[in-house]
Amino acid sequence: MNTQPLVGLVGWRGMVGSVLMARMRAEGDFALIEPRFFSTSNAGGAAPAEAKNERTLFDAHDLAALQQCEVIITAQGGDYTQAVYGPLREAGWKGYWIDAAKTLRMADDAVIVLDPVNRPVIEDALVRGVRNYIGSNCTVSCMLMGVGALYKAGLVEWMQTSTYQAASGGGAPNMRELLTQYGSLHAGVADLLADPASAILEIDRRVTATQRGFSAEETRHFRGVPLGGNLIPWIDADRGDGTSLEEWKGGAETNKIMGFGRPGSPATVPVDSTCVRIGSMRCHSQSLTFKLKRDVPLADIEALIAADNAWVKVVPNERVATEQQLNAAQVAGTLTIPVGRLRKLAMGPQYLGAFTIGDQLLWGAAEPLRRMLRILLDAR
Ligand code: HSE
Repeated sequence: MNTQPLVGLVGWRGMVGSVLMARMRAEGDFALIEPRFFSTSNAGGAAPAEAKNERTLFDAHDLAALQQCEVIITAQGGDYTQAVYGPLREAGWKGYWIDAAKTLRMADDAVIVLDPVNRPVIEDALVRGVRNYIGSNCTVSCMLMGVGALYKAGLVEWMQTSTYQAASGGGAPNMRELLTQYGSLHAGVADLLADPASAILEIDRRVTATQRGFSAEETRHFRGVPLGGNLIPWIDADRGDGTSLEEWKGGAETNKIMGFGRPGSPATVPVDSTCVRIGSMRCHSQSLTFKLKRDVPLADIEALIAADNAWVKVVPNERVATEQQLNAAQVAGTLTIPVGRLRKLAMGPQYLGAFTIGDQLLWGAAEPLRRMLRILLDAR
């Protein structure tokens, strides 16, 4: 008899799902489970190489096949969760649901998982029988992997973040759209660039004309606005109160991850954000301003942050180290979370500035999910 838990994987072929699969392979997760691969479009097709006994793809809407799984991990997206999760529970399924989508994130019976930051919250939830473990908004998880130590130490009176978010946060088509625009922008001025005597203002004029001239199709994924050579200071839905949904998540999810605001827990911490889309590929960067509850020496703050987890790296607040280590291209594809530009601000000794970067597909999406699977496997 197979004693390995049957783990259903849904959405494993998409961008987040592919990153998740690569990380699971790298960490040997498949050696510990019997994977069952589901598909929304190719049921009956061949399962990927990681399959053991379950060698064909199951229909991702087949409740009976889903119900047999002890754990389901989905990176399929919010519409799938919306369609399947409720009926699955109503059918009596008692397994663990691990999800990248936001759909269930703020539900009372769900915990947001980011175990290097909130392992005690997860442990408490397991004891209470919570069955839904949901990945956080990518901006929030990357931020907390960097500066979670300050929250854990109860030092944060409030935090403001200005984000520089990558195209990947919008999805794979958004990344392609960005790169296609970059290509068009370059093509429009290639002749002038090749001539060292050409006028830069003529180059600039043509680039601007190309940006403004992109068709609706060429700018479809960023809602009619070119991101190439540009930025867009609004991400996700308009909440109608002057904030975007992405900005609201910054406060709501940070506090939920930390377990703040619950009976017997510390009070919630005000977190406010201005979320901006920029033309980088897959790393979300953030400029943070803190008001601390007391004046803590900068060296102590650096030591606290550096000791928090195995992935955070304090970058000295000097020019060369910052340029070389604190940029999105350097961080892309890695689990390293650099935190730099740490300094006391002109407003006073309780005000702290910082800058942090994280790969939004790794710590921002896939990694907390596979780590939650490992926590469940360890607890068996
Ligand atoms: N909402 C994020 C973004 C990605 O648009 O960058 C998912 O958390």
